[in-house]
Amino acid sequence: MSESAALAAARAYERRQAAARFPGERPRFHAAPLVGWANDPNGFCWYQGEYHLFYQYYPYRTCWGPMHWGHAVSGDLLRWTHRPAALAPDTPADADGCFSGSAVGLPDGRMLLLYTGMRRGCGAQRQTQCIALGDGEDFEKYGGNPVIDASALPEGCSAADFRDPKIWRGPDGNYFCVAVSRHKTAGGSALLFCSRDAFRWQYRCTLDASRGAYGKMWECPDFFALDGVQLLVVSMQEMQATPDGEFGEGYGTLALLGEYDPQAGRFARRAAQPVDYGPDFYAPQTLQSPDGRRILIAWMENWATCGQAPRRGPWFGRMTLPRELSVRQGRLFQQPVRELENLRQAGIRRRGVTLCGRSGFEALRGRTFDLSVVLDVAGSPECRRFALRFAEGGRFFAELRYIPGCGELTFDRSGSTFAGDPLCIRRIAAPPAAGRLSLRVIMDGDSVEVFVNEGERTLTAQVCAPPQADGISFVSDGPAVMDLEYYLLG
Ligand code: FRU
Repeated sequence: MSESAALAAARAYERRQAAARFPGERPRFHAAPLVGWANDPNGFCWYQGEYHLFYQYYPYRTCWGPMHWGHAVSGDLLRWTHRPAALAPDTPADADGCFSGSAVGLPDGRMLLLYTGMRRGCGAQRQTQCIALGDGEDFEKYGGNPVIDASALPEGCSAADFRDPKIWRGPDGNYFCVAVSRHKTAGGSALLFCSRDAFRWQYRCTLDASRGAYGKMWECPDFFALDGVQLLVVSMQEMQATPDGEFGEGYGTLALLGEYDPQAGRFARRAAQPVDYGPDFYAPQTLQSPDGRRILIAWMENWATCGQAPRRGPWFGRMTLPRELSVRQGRLFQQPVRELENLRQAGIRRRGVTLCGRSGFEALRGRTFDLSVVLDVAGSPECRRFALRFAEGGRFFAELRYIPGCGELTFDRSGSTFAGDPLCIRRIAAPPAAGRLSLRVIMDGDSVEVFVNEGERTLTAQVCAPPQADGISFVSDGPAVMDLEYYLLG
């Protein structure tokens, strides 16, 4: 397979960088680029016995640039091995970037990548959908690119904002993809296309649109059935915070739960929720694992802050933990993939301890851990406020605070972030479930992922504190009864 000059240069650069030793902390069990910049996960799939994760990638600097696709593989979704860059912007259809997209295995054994080709010229940008074919490591751009262009768009949709196709193969062997475009009145729109062979595509229908309520433009859509419900997941630009505190300002993610009638080409939305409530979660993409789980991974950053966020070495941008999805009582739930339990090392378990004031536990410290705290809200009537602190040391700490009286959970990283961080505090409603609030907190160096009440809500964030700030403690205003389970992760 021929390698373009741009791809050969990126791969040679990666080889040189791999030989160098990097200072600075890297995540232990989260995917991150070896070098350069990463944003959205792309082409997340199971192919020939391994999980593949591609991502938006600019190898040469720790900021966004002409988009390549980086690549990593894993057997367990946690330990990732870097593979050579998969795509570079090197053809007329993608001369200004290989934007986000997805992967599917073809019946003949090849892997097909469907991605957005970005072109600028004469003051306007054009986005079209393109194909690359390969063996899971080396890819050739398809000679017939682009395979979906402006001529396939419905009336009112913009060819300047038309991107991020997510492809899948239906049970009948037909192919489908959902992509987004900006419609002049409906705003961000999720468009469904279909194809018999994955090469010739037709517009089928518009599944849903933001219509002023859910941001102005959508990005990175996904569309799948789960537990008897159809989900459309999108990332939103220019979201206006909602008065109930459910949705935050700016960039966010949205899950629309509903019903899909494939014959009529109609998606009926029944419920809407954020996918994640934290500041650092965007552009999620899912796959179906060989054992049938629907697994989601997202970029653990926010476009609003990634410019100022500190760099910890010659790389920037990481992915979330892969998460198992389920729908319960009409809501999307997320749990870390069960493979995480294999990383558990020394542990601490306590049941029914009563805390008051400031407390800690012997050996309860670290920056790579899996900590579950279950607060017995019903059994702690005098507890007015309860806080869990982590990444604590010197002047640094981050905190989860809970007010049992009103069921409000606050994430506060103002003690461990960069100056002027606009997203340092996030308050969400977290009503107890059967009289208890459970928090599972997973930390990997500078990142924290909180799964509230078995994953009914999740909150994903980065904190910025030196590795020595590894304290974990509790502060309770009034006696609080809780269970605790803690494991170092290695
Ligand atoms: C989302 C996004 C996508 C686009 C990519 C470019 O984060 O803006 O819509 O394809 O990033 O890197």
